[in-house]
Amino acid sequence: MALHRHVSGPAGQAKLGMRPQSEFQLPAEVAEVPRLRLGPRGLPPDAAYQVVHDELLLDGNARLNLATFVTTWMDRQADMLIAECAPKNIIDKDEYPQTAELENRCVNVIAELWNASGAEQATGCSTTGSSEACMLGGLALKWNWRRARAAAGAPTDRPNLVMGANVQVVWEKFCRYWDVEARLVPVGPATHLTAEAAVPHCDEDTIGVVAILGSTFDGSYEPVLDIANALDALAAGGGPDVPIHVDAASGGFVAPFIDPDLVWDFRIPRVASINASGHKYGLVYPGVGWVVWRDAGRLPEELVFKVDYLGGEMPTFSLNFSRPGAQVAAQYYNFLRLGFDGYRRVMSACRDNARWLAQQIGDLGPFELVSKGAGIPAFAFRIKEGVPYTVYDVSEAVRTRGWLMPAYRLPPNLEDIAVLRIVVRDDMSRDLAKVLIEDLRRTIKRLERQPEVMAESPRTGFHH
Ligand SMILES: Cc1ncc(COP(=O)(O)O)c(C=O)c1O
Repeated sequence: MALHRHVSGPAGQAKLGMRPQSEFQLPAEVAEVPRLRLGPRGLPPDAAYQVVHDELLLDGNARLNLATFVTTWMDRQADMLIAECAPKNIIDKDEYPQTAELENRCVNVIAELWNASGAEQATGCSTTGSSEACMLGGLALKWNWRRARAAAGAPTDRPNLVMGANVQVVWEKFCRYWDVEARLVPVGPATHLTAEAAVPHCDEDTIGVVAILGSTFDGSYEPVLDIANALDALAAGGGPDVPIHVDAASGGFVAPFIDPDLVWDFRIPRVASINASGHKYGLVYPGVGWVVWRDAGRLPEELVFKVDYLGGEMPTFSLNFSRPGAQVAAQYYNFLRLGFDGYRRVMSACRDNARWLAQQIGDLGPFELVSKGAGIPAFAFRIKEGVPYTVYDVSEAVRTRGWLMPAYRLPPNLEDIAVLRIVVRDDMSRDLAKVLIEDLRRTIKRLERQPEVMAESPRTGFHH
């Protein structure tokens, strides 16, 4: 999380002013509370609530956040379940065995969605999100590679991971934290990894190739099957036998429902593991991800820790120990509530709205589409040559209406291209999409009239 500095001296003594509120009267001596220090005494709950509530008013409106893939709306019944489960710690398997059982059912549902074969006994777990899931997937790749290298009497000190330069930042983190060389394959002209570009970067020290189902930059699907076929050919020709981890953070809950013919999952023997974020198109509020290995043997025993469970033991694999159990209950609720057809309808609506929006934006005049919502329901667009304002200006201008629309540069090799990206979620109705188009239309008219105040500047805007 964000790193914050300790503030000392007079600035550290800053106070939070309390506003006079009608529902409750604070004793005069607590009309001010320290901002950065623990107050000597507490506040009545209503007063404390109001302070925190008021502070948060300045946060953006989550529903208008076009930047996030993460769920911003759930049913009231899901809210109730989340509140009921708030005190439950998911690691306490013995104390909360039914939460453990719901996690087990979710892993089964997901393994089946990703076409795990019964014979191989796929194994998986919940995580805090795809970031932890990617870390666990990467760790298993590293341990498996090291074991095989050691068994062959080969050196094990220079592991590398091959992936497109468009990977989400978690993979660069994984490589830095776990001492693996990040082989970032330059993108271009395609905006993501291709089979031809990936294979030359693989060697005996490659622990795996990461293929992304739903690139964070433009929503496109990477060609997992092509990459697998190319790696098959590499191995058949005497080269290294490199497994694939599919980072399906977004696509893992999209493709199974609306792209059933796309072969990207455990139907491909080279796919060793897959992750997805339950809190993205799994439709749960932030705090849950999933990772599944095609068979238990892919999960090195040294990485598995046992915790007590109903008089016995339960194997676990995680970076955290304590974690909320509520999101797992909410994931299971969604599975019951929506079923296959419900998810299919939600994903179809998201895709239709994304494609509709992409087309409308393409028709506005100054924009050129970089992607059109062919993969996950997200797309990116740039400003045409000669238009007197930038994507950053548009991003800033639409903010005055509450829209959070990120502007950023494409990955190295295509970094000259700055884009805006829109993620369409379940809570973006066609009506809201129409309002967005009208707001964009007004915005570009305004920007055309005042180009001189909008000089191009090297704003970075948004980081993945
Ligand atoms: C492709 C990809 N991988 C990993 C992540 C990290 O996921 P999470 O936010 O669930 O930790 C993201 C987030 O956007 C992503 O798009």
